[in-house]
Amino acid sequence: MRSLRVQFIAFVTVLLVLLLVLLNTYPIISSRDAVLEEKRSSLTGQAAVLSSSLSSLDRLNRESIAEVLRFLDIGGFSRILVTDDEGLVLYDSGGPTGVVTDIPDVYTAITRSQTVFHPLFSDSAFSCGIAMPMSSQGAITGAVYLCEHDAERAEIILSFQSRIRTLSVVIGSFALLTACLFMALIMRRLRELVLSMRVVAAGDYSYRHPIRGQDEIAELGAEFNLLTERLESTEQQRRRFVSDASHELKTPLASIRLLADSIVQNEGMDPATVREFVTDIGNEAQRLQRTTEKLLSLSRLDDTTVKLTPEPVDVKQAALDALVFLRPLAKERQVHIHSELDEGCVVMATQDHIFQIIFNLIENAIKYNVPEGSVILRLQALEDTVQLSVEDTGIGIPEEDRPNIFSRFYRVDKARSREAGGSGLGLSIVHDAVLAYGGSITVGQNKPQGSRFVVSFPLATPEETGI
Ligand SMILES: Nc1ncnc2c1ncn2[C@@H]1O[C@H](COP(=O)(O)OP(=O)(O)O)[C@@H](O)[C@H]1O
Ligand SMILES: [Mg+2]
Repeated sequence: MRSLRVQFIAFVTVLLVLLLVLLNTYPIISSRDAVLEEKRSSLTGQAAVLSSSLSSLDRLNRESIAEVLRFLDIGGFSRILVTDDEGLVLYDSGGPTGVVTDIPDVYTAITRSQTVFHPLFSDSAFSCGIAMPMSSQGAITGAVYLCEHDAERAEIILSFQSRIRTLSVVIGSFALLTACLFMALIMRRLRELVLSMRVVAAGDYSYRHPIRGQDEIAELGAEFNLLTERLESTEQQRRRFVSDASHELKTPLASIRLLADSIVQNEGMDPATVREFVTDIGNEAQRLQRTTEKLLSLSRLDDTTVKLTPEPVDVKQAALDALVFLRPLAKERQVHIHSELDEGCVVMATQDHIFQIIFNLIENAIKYNVPEGSVILRLQALEDTVQLSVEDTGIGIPEEDRPNIFSRFYRVDKARSREAGGSGLGLSIVHDAVLAYGGSITVGQNKPQGSRFVVSFPLATPEETGI
């Protein structure tokens, strides 16, 4: 693993080195260039004055040149040299006259008739030489050569350089140290987060990462806590579900065993009783089957990997189908069903789920009703929603139970529900199916008594129905 810290510090170091190299070169180079430029112009000016003054002389020799130099008050040079047009030295402040000069710039000046400037910045001094041709009436008559040695300016630049170097070391170390500290701080917080993740991954869903500050790492921690909370609640739900489900399956299985044992142990049992017991066994088995079917249907709704493929469903037709199945039950319970069903209530869902939703709601309205009670089923297409309401005049649901009735296996009156063949899963299926297709469901009290369930679905658009 390439540590983030190493990467970050390497990056900062490279950046710092680049910056410091720039700081150590650019100002020095540019100030040196400025000094050299200034030297070029001052040397050029002085060489021009000297050369033009010398050109006007009739005779050039050591004395006359020294005279002119004195007159012009030219000084401060490390070397002043004047030659004739063949390079023969006529005057030299630092050597003998009468010899041929060995300075190449002087020859270049004479032969090419151009000024040659030679700047040089060595360790401790500037030394610049300039060779300029002398001419009289268009003909080259010789050359002057001035050389200047300036240690003072060089000294200033060198001390400037060393000061920048010291400063660079200080700034560089400080910046690097700060970067390391900063990184160590960030790394510590990241490591804490990783540790928290390990704790949660090991199964402690109640653990919460302590959040400090308001930066991105804190945000990360908060998101992680949110995720853990979700995990915790899912885990709790799962546990409760497993225990509820096993309890729910245990009861009919126990009855089946009891009934079967009774038959086996009582050899002289009369056929009528045996028949009654076996019928009971069949009923319990049927209940088990219903419960497992509902559980399967719920787990299918839960499974987010299975994509539901909605199609246009006519809710009115589904309601009519459900009523065909439920009328016998209503008749048996002496409950009257009234329905007001609008046309054109088409929603995007599956036939099966819409049927289950309506069936469960009406079944409950009949089951938890009273003799001579009634159920009113209304279906309306409002602006862009389809609204289905199921009202009954039955026993109603206590207000404190209402938030729970959509939970799995929740029953207000267990005995009554079981007696009616209920499993406590019907409304969970209704709820999950409604949400799966973008709808909503509410439960309230019916006046003067009973319950009122209202389901809303988005009305299918013409594009969806393809009409
Ligand atoms: N229309 C209703 N009137 C009164 N109580 C109801 C009604 N619908 C549902 N309930 C209550 O909500 C519980 C959950 O309903 P449901 O999930 O369909 O389970 P089941 O019908 O299998 O018992 C029922 O046990 C019942 O107590
Ligand atoms: Mg039910």
